[in-house]
Amino acid sequence: MSAITVRVPAKVNLQLAVGPLREDGYHDLVNVFHAVSLFDEVTAAEPLDGDLSAAPLGVRVEGDLTGEVPVSDDNLAVRAARALAERAGRSYRADLLIRKSIPVAGGMAGGSADAAAALVACNELWGLGLPLEDLMEIAADIGSDVPFALLGGTAVGTGRGERLAPLETAGVFHWVFALADGGLSTPRVYGECDRLREEAGVAAPTPAVNEALLAALREGDAEALGQALSNDLQPAALALRPSLARTLAAGREHGALGAIVSGSGPTCAFLAESAERAYELAALIKDVDGCRSVVTASGPVPGATVAG
Ligand code: C5P
Repeated sequence: MSAITVRVPAKVNLQLAVGPLREDGYHDLVNVFHAVSLFDEVTAAEPLDGDLSAAPLGVRVEGDLTGEVPVSDDNLAVRAARALAERAGRSYRADLLIRKSIPVAGGMAGGSADAAAALVACNELWGLGLPLEDLMEIAADIGSDVPFALLGGTAVGTGRGERLAPLETAGVFHWVFALADGGLSTPRVYGECDRLREEAGVAAPTPAVNEALLAALREGDAEALGQALSNDLQPAALALRPSLARTLAAGREHGALGAIVSGSGPTCAFLAESAERAYELAALIKDVDGCRSVVTASGPVPGATVAG
């Protein structure tokens, strides 16, 4: 096989409960991940020429929103492919092409998704045959959200978010995502969360899963899910990007069942009763100041998968 293409979904956090800052610089979390039908595609191909002086792992990025994605060894997909090659104990070559639809630095784990897709694509291209379990371990070393992008569906992550347990859900949930201009740095948002807590003299709580949220997912109850959505990073994202408050308010005014900042933002997520309502809501939100564009999507969807 000379090229393998893998499709990988974005995520939204249905609950993001952030505990105290740990000594390793991470926070203990309860992180309910939900994979939605907004996909990046990563193709891993054998380099065409025999130019052995070229970088062993090349990367190109295509799409409307690719501005800040590094096309160097810092690219998460390149790091993932390199980590996989190291794990297999051999040197490998591949050209990676990333077709981006997931917003960059948008709080939807786009970079993590590309890393997960690169693991699946290179595992196949290089004929390594590593089981999902091994890919999950490599994924956790690349980033806290990478294992979930392999798994997909809906799952609760603990630890720094990398220890996953799949959750039972019923039916399909319909979403609108409002993309903002520019991204937000994840470490900066976590740092702001710590700073706001310190300023308010509030100790970080021990994160615990919201049972009402789990019940809503099990029952496929969109209304209850909308009410149970929560994100401890939201006040920090709003402090760093005050215009998001307007976007969230517009969604609520127009009848979203729930309105929340996705992960560390700045993307905002709105839950709708149906696909039709999601389209209507998207049309109503798209002209709000500070909103760059809107997309509709549904979840849950599977994780990184070799395309047809
Ligand atoms: O794991 P990942 O590299 O994606 O995390 C990016 C940054 O987000 C970390 O360097 C850290 O600042 C923050 N983070 C955190 N606690 C977590 C996950 C991420 O503080 N559980």
